[in-house]
Amino acid sequence: MRTVYVNGDYLPETEAKVSVFDRGFLMADGVYEVTSVLGGKLIDFGGHCKRLSRSLSELEMKNPLSDEEWLAIHRELVARNDITDGMVYLQVTRGNPGDRDFAYPADDVQPTVVLFTQSKPGLAESPVAKVGWKVISIPDARWARRDIKTVQLLYPSMGKMMAKKAGVDDAWFVEDGFVTEGTSNNAYIVKGNKIVTRALSNDILHGITRAAVLRFAKEAQFDVEERNFTIEEAQSADEAFITSASAFVMPVVEIDGKSLGNGTPGNAARRMREIYLEEMRKAAI
Ligand code: PDD
Repeated sequence: MRTVYVNGDYLPETEAKVSVFDRGFLMADGVYEVTSVLGGKLIDFGGHCKRLSRSLSELEMKNPLSDEEWLAIHRELVARNDITDGMVYLQVTRGNPGDRDFAYPADDVQPTVVLFTQSKPGLAESPVAKVGWKVISIPDARWARRDIKTVQLLYPSMGKMMAKKAGVDDAWFVEDGFVTEGTSNNAYIVKGNKIVTRALSNDILHGITRAAVLRFAKEAQFDVEERNFTIEEAQSADEAFITSASAFVMPVVEIDGKSLGNGTPGNAARRMREIYLEEMRKAAI
């Protein structure tokens, strides 16, 4: 059985408890992070810690733990659950004020801190990466602060279900005619030597994988353009891909039924996946 972390304790998952009055449960008033584990080590942990602090401060919540404490808990859970490859999920909610109320509770209400692992042996060798994803486009019906990594994931879940029903792997959100991002990843297109992805703003999550991949892409002499693109432009691109902490760099081979290039993963996506995994494994802690 899995060992999870709840508010200072390591517990068997069946003994872990959170109040029914927790604002994470009642209001989706909480934030989360997902860090990958490869070879028993954490990938880009520093980046995830930084974004956690930012998400919390945007919601006027104090960070309940120091970066060193977060790291120690992550490592302890990886060890106790014997994770070689997989993910560590962490959630911080505004806690349990004792009643349901829209206003934030007083400062003395302690946040709820929950961490758990998911084991995914061979995560980086996923056979899907050799085939690539098919995606459909759907309207972006999320709220306007997508830069905060909140636990209100209902619309992304609905998007994933729309993709499943359409027989594809994921959905790309479109707002005002332009792609924002995937249900749980950032979106890119490639034309010649140029990698195009939407610029950072409140419209998208500031992906930790995105930051690393764009840095490596520039080092590998790709031109990087941070700007909006449409589904039509994406369909006529040479290739496309997505990035996230759990999928790394995943080629996209079809958008709304239209194959890109010859319908197989492109060179830029393949190369960026290789470079990303190699560099991040080296830097893992
Ligand atoms: N999702 N955009 C959205 C909407 C996301 O949910 C995610 C991450 C990303 C990529 O961010 P990063 O590279 O930091 O993982 C972009 C995580 C993996 C999840 O919810 O499982």
